[in-house]
Amino acid sequence: MKLTTLSMASGASLLAAVLGLILASAPVAWSWSTEGHMLTCQIAQGLLEPAAAHAVKNLLPEEAGGDLSALCVWPDQVRHWYKYQWTSPLHFIDTPDKACSFVYSRDCHDPSGAKDMCVAGAISNFTSQLMHYKHGSADRKYNLTEALLFLSHFMGDVHQPMHVGFTSDQGGNAVNLRWFKHKSNLHHVWDREIILTTLAENYGKDMGAFRKDLEHNITKGTWSDDASSWRDCTDLSSCPTKYATESIDLACKWGYNSVHDGDTLSDDYFSSRLPIVTRRIAQGGVRLAMFLNRVFGEHKRDVDASLHLAAADEL
Ligand SMILES: *[C@@H]1O[C@H](CO)[C@@H](O)[C@H](O)[C@H]1NC(C)=O
Ligand SMILES: *[C@@H]1O[C@H](CO)[C@@H](O)[C@H](O)[C@H]1NC(C)=O
Ligand SMILES: *[C@@H]1O[C@H](CO)[C@@H](O)[C@H](O)[C@H]1NC(C)=O
Repeated sequence: MKLTTLSMASGASLLAAVLGLILASAPVAWSWSTEGHMLTCQIAQGLLEPAAAHAVKNLLPEEAGGDLSALCVWPDQVRHWYKYQWTSPLHFIDTPDKACSFVYSRDCHDPSGAKDMCVAGAISNFTSQLMHYKHGSADRKYNLTEALLFLSHFMGDVHQPMHVGFTSDQGGNAVNLRWFKHKSNLHHVWDREIILTTLAENYGKDMGAFRKDLEHNITKGTWSDDASSWRDCTDLSSCPTKYATESIDLACKWGYNSVHDGDTLSDDYFSSRLPIVTRRIAQGGVRLAMFLNRVFGEHKRDVDASLHLAAADEL
């Protein structure tokens, strides 16, 4: 699917088309489900300050109807296209089995060893590209629409604990098990099963209701005391490392812990892990907004805190 070929007028029909395409073409899910990514992006867009809100609307293709979440799954769709194959390793990080740690210099590379080619490196890369937006240089060497979609998507992925998983089982993809009655695997449980189960069980499959509950918990509910510390970040280029470290920590404590190939996971696993999944979606949204507000905002200090990622500047 090309963005340019989408000519539907409204955001709603675009959304339906995007969802339809994903459902039709996704036997393998590679990241937060469509729902997880959409929620992260909806939460983020709701927290944008005027300058960032304006920049995002400006960068989104017209067909998105101003809705960032309509295209937050785009990177999952294009990763299998020849032109975008290089983006495939950017969705995750493989860490050494059982190490339960992330070390950027050790772990952030693609299978061929190319440095920075992992989700933490990608977030820095596309953030640094978006910094060019403010300078408004006419001959841009980057496609900032794509940079926005990649950043928005990868900020979701880096918060999915199993996206920073063990190498030998591909972040839980090779741990086959049952989710209640159907076949699944540990990676998918965290990508989508837990989200789809709560949507069905607790929200009558109403995404809007789920989103409102998340937003309430960020502003007034369970996480309201924590949420401002989620935004703490002195240097945008190193914060993705912090988020990836949190993820592998959660993957070890809550994802892999006491799960074995062939297990059946059901109520106990669901109810104990659900709060982790919802918190990670919320954190991804709050932090994506923080990044976009700083990248597109007026604050001088953030322009000065220039990102120094070799990959981005050697193009
Ligand atoms: C930027 O990327 C989008 C999505 O791939 C594409 O539709 C658009 O034409 C590109 N813009 C330029 C100027 O190449
Ligand atoms: C950064 O983005 C450029 C394309 O815009 C790409 O060529 C490069 O491989 C990317 N690097 C990382 C670490 O994402
Ligand atoms: C919001 O917080 C309440 C109270 O802790 C909890 O019951 C509910 O599941 C939370 N909702 C979400 C989406 O996190």
